[in-house]
Amino acid sequence: MRPFGRECWSRVLVESIEQVRWACAWFILESPRIQERWIMILDRQNPLSVADIMKALQTVNESLPDLETPYDADDLITFGRDFENLLQVYRGAMHEISTKLEILDDEYQTRYSHNPIHHMERRMKSIRSIAGKLLTHRKSLTIENIENNVFDIAGIRVMCNYVDDVYAIASMLSRQSDIRILEVKDYIKHPKASGYRSLHVIYSVPVFLTTGARDIPVEVQFRTISMDYWASLEHRLRYKSTNDPERVARHAQTLQNAAQELFSIDLALQNVHRDLVSAPRETDFDDE
Ligand code: GTP
Ligand code: MG
Repeated sequence: MRPFGRECWSRVLVESIEQVRWACAWFILESPRIQERWIMILDRQNPLSVADIMKALQTVNESLPDLETPYDADDLITFGRDFENLLQVYRGAMHEISTKLEILDDEYQTRYSHNPIHHMERRMKSIRSIAGKLLTHRKSLTIENIENNVFDIAGIRVMCNYVDDVYAIASMLSRQSDIRILEVKDYIKHPKASGYRSLHVIYSVPVFLTTGARDIPVEVQFRTISMDYWASLEHRLRYKSTNDPERVARHAQTLQNAAQELFSIDLALQNVHRDLVSAPRETDFDDE
C-alpha cells in the first residue's frame, strides 16, 4: 500500500470516524446524568418537639379563649406527645403523595418530553390554624376531633403548566390503587365568587408505621401557575389584616375580572401547546 494513496486516506477517514464515535460514547457515558453516584436523600427537617407544641398551645389558649381544651395540666403533656405523634404520621402521608406526584412528573417527561408540574409546595397546618378550625366547627381540642374534622393538616400545592396538566396529573394520581378520594372541589370548572380557581382533592393514603398501616388524609390543591399567581396576590390583598375591608370590597370586581382574564390567557397558551405537543388533554379524562 502506498503511504499517501487513496486506500491509506480512506483508512485514516474510517479510523477518525471511529474515534469520534468513541468520543461521543465516552461523553454520553461520562455525562453527569448517566454517571453512577450517590446523593443524599434523607434530608431531615426539624420537626416540632413536645416543648414547641406546649408553647404553641399556650398562645392558642390565649388567642382563642372560647376554644374548649378538655384536659388539666398533666393531661396537657400527654396531649402534646399524642399531637407530636399525629403530626409525624401526617408528615409521612404528605411525603407519600409528593413522591407519587414526582414520579408521575418524571414519567411524563420521559414519555411526552413535557413536565406537567411547574413546581410544588407543601406545608403542615399550624397548631393555631388547627385549633381555629375546631373552634369554627364548635369542637373541643382533642386528638379525636382533630382526626375527624381537619382534613388539610397535610397540604400540597401542585402548580401545573397548563389546565390539561392539572386534570391529567390529578386523574393519574386519583387512579392509583392504594389511595382513595375523600372529596373533590373543582373550582376551575366552578370558580368561587372571588374569582378563585383551583382543583382541590382530599386523598386518603396509607402510611406504614412500626405498628401497621394507617390511612391519612392529605389535601392537594392543583392549579396552573397563573391561577397560583392570582391566588397568592389576592390572598395578600384581601386577607391582609391592615387592609380596610370596605376598601378591599371596592376592588372585588377588578380582582374577579383579572382572574377571568388570566384564565383566558391560560386557555390561549394551552391551545398553542396542544398544537405543538401531543401530551394528554383534559378531555382524555372526561369519563372519570
Ligand atoms: P376550609 O375549612 O378552610 O377547608 O374551608 P373550605 O373547605 O370551605 O374551603 P376549601 O377547602 O374549598 O378552600 C380552602 C383553601 O382554598 C384556602 O385555605 C385557600 O388556600 C384556598 N382558597 C379558597 N378560596 C379562596 C379565595 O377566594 N382566594 C384565595 N386566594 N384562596 C382561596
Ligand atoms: Mg377545605
